Amino acid sequence: VLATIANELLAQIETFARHLQGRPLFVGCGTAFHAALSGVYFWQIIAKKAASAVAGSEFLYSRDVLSDQDFVTFISQSGETIDIVEHLPVLKERHIPFGAVVNRLGSTLERGSQHKVLLPAGAEQCVLATKSYTAMVAVLFLQAHEQAGTLQQGKAELLETVKELEPLLQPEYRTEHILPIADFLTKAEHVFLIGRGHSYPVALEAALKIKEVTYVHTEGFAGGELKHGVIALIEQGTPCIVFAPEGSEYEATISNALELKVRGAKIIGVSSKPSDAFDFFLPVDAVAQLSTITHAVVMQLVAYNMAIILGNDPDKPRNLAKSVTVK
Ligand code: F6R
Repeated sequence: VLATIANELLAQIETFARHLQGRPLFVGCGTAFHAALSGVYFWQIIAKKAASAVAGSEFLYSRDVLSDQDFVTFISQSGETIDIVEHLPVLKERHIPFGAVVNRLGSTLERGSQHKVLLPAGAEQCVLATKSYTAMVAVLFLQAHEQAGTLQQGKAELLETVKELEPLLQPEYRTEHILPIADFLTKAEHVFLIGRGHSYPVALEAALKIKEVTYVHTEGFAGGELKHGVIALIEQGTPCIVFAPEGSEYEATISNALELKVRGAKIIGVSSKPSDAFDFFLPVDAVAQLSTITHAVVMQLVAYNMAIILGNDPDKPRNLAKSVTVK
């Protein structure tokens, strides 16, 4: 799917960009909201432009202040989520420009949006959003590169990421790295995840994936926010997953990991660079901002394997529907 995006979607992304003139606001729900947050970081880091994101269910309270100087991008796998599609007629009536990044052709969002990028993720059988999430992130990454005038560089980085993902999907990686961590986490009462900068949305998304299929209490936080309260919850043996891609936020993230470790936390590091702070290590090769994708994929695998160990159906978690079409 990622290779298809890199090789076949650039024209769609360029066409979409021609209409994307105003202040960018990304709107999505659940996993799509996490992709939206990644979009904000990509715009800031790659395009050096301000952007913002809001959850679909909260957009109701912010849409009144928008004008024709804004551009809203709705992000959705199903294209039917009520907290997204209910806004289309209102924006149309008020002449607020909008577009869609959507996976389902023929969906309400796809049909109702004049400007769109259609994700090539195909049918997603699992209730949890997985390949649609990585596809959303890839498109938002390329959109930011388009804004920066570096679309070809973005394409090359995405194709490089496809190569880096291969070894992570092999059975050896599962046996050697994923399973021991999945096994350890299934015994936990609480799991905390931290990331800084563009790894912050990854922490949120990984936490969502784990809680959806394991029913273990799992929360993601911005690394620097811990000492503003959450650190009070750390006890001897509490598992903390730390996303530490190499780059400007590496040292600060490790310092956050050490703050947790001295309070008894067991640190699971996800990085290309080992650290003494890590009790467990998920090695993932460096791919700059696209560690958003590689780190999310290894955590999807951790969540999946935790579900299997716990005897839960990883495709059909309790209480969840694939598409949320009611308020
Ligand atoms: C999480 C998940 C949900 C959806 C959310 C939005 O694994 O599946 O959080 O991401 O309900 O759905 P779409 O993308 O269809 O609008």
